[in-house]
Amino acid sequence: MSYIMDNPREGDRIELKTDRRLTLEQLCWSGIKPGDTVLDMGCAAGTTSRMIGELVGPGGRVVGIDASRERIEQGMAHPEQLQSIEYRQGDAYLLPAADGEFDVSWSRFLFEYLNRPREALAELIRVTRTGGTVCVSDLDGNCIWHHPCSGSLRSGLAEALRTLGDSFNPHAGKQLYTLFHEAGLRDIKVDIRPYHTIIGAISPREQAHWQLKLEGVAHALRRRGWSESKAAALVYAFSEHLRSPDTMTYSVIFTVKGVRA
Ligand SMILES: C[S@@+](CC[C@H](N)C(=O)[O-])C[C@H]1O[C@@H](n2cnc3c(N)ncnc32)[C@H](O)[C@@H]1O
Repeated sequence: MSYIMDNPREGDRIELKTDRRLTLEQLCWSGIKPGDTVLDMGCAAGTTSRMIGELVGPGGRVVGIDASRERIEQGMAHPEQLQSIEYRQGDAYLLPAADGEFDVSWSRFLFEYLNRPREALAELIRVTRTGGTVCVSDLDGNCIWHHPCSGSLRSGLAEALRTLGDSFNPHAGKQLYTLFHEAGLRDIKVDIRPYHTIIGAISPREQAHWQLKLEGVAHALRRRGWSESKAAALVYAFSEHLRSPDTMTYSVIFTVKGVRA
């Protein structure tokens, strides 16, 4: 699998960075309700799947699908694992799910890592019942919008993006509406919010998950041929930016929902 952030600490990173309040707001906005059968595509270790489980209640069902066996096992072993959650290992382009199985198909922070988003969206539509909802959420500007941006951070980021190529799309979020429209989804709605806003020096809590994020990126770059010192220099420039009291970093989260005709 070519998921760039794949490493043994990825499930923990996602657990640490997940904002419960924002996630519940997004899930409610998607229209998930008690009794629904919901897909969580790209579920990682089930952090969001458990929140969906709370919303659908004991009369509903959640299916979490992810390519990583390791993260799925981490989800199944979670102390708050709910009876209503089932995990399946599988590929976004060939979902292990039946046609029309779900009332709501949800996916967040997956499309930015997919180089064939149209095909992945077609799969989400296939497994959603007629009249059901497909909801996808992703970022615009992830890791790349900074001000003021030092020369070393700017050039390091540009080279990192070239290295990652089509394994990472930092503009996936703003492309979702058009994808949904072209795929023939109806009643499309878009929610846009600021995300990853770090104004001035980063807080210790945010620092902890950004450190894991930057380590994950460095790991991905080393696997693609960067030397230890070159990857460390980018992490250093990025960390300096985040720690600085006179800089800011931000991105935007797009959440798009549409009804399967
Ligand atoms: C950033 S995590 C998403 C976390 C979670 N959905 C959330 O909202 O925080 C991306 C997940 O997508 C999975 N993934 C990436 N490419 C995939 C593919 N082609 N098929 C299935 N899962 C994939 C990765 O294994 C990873 O667990």
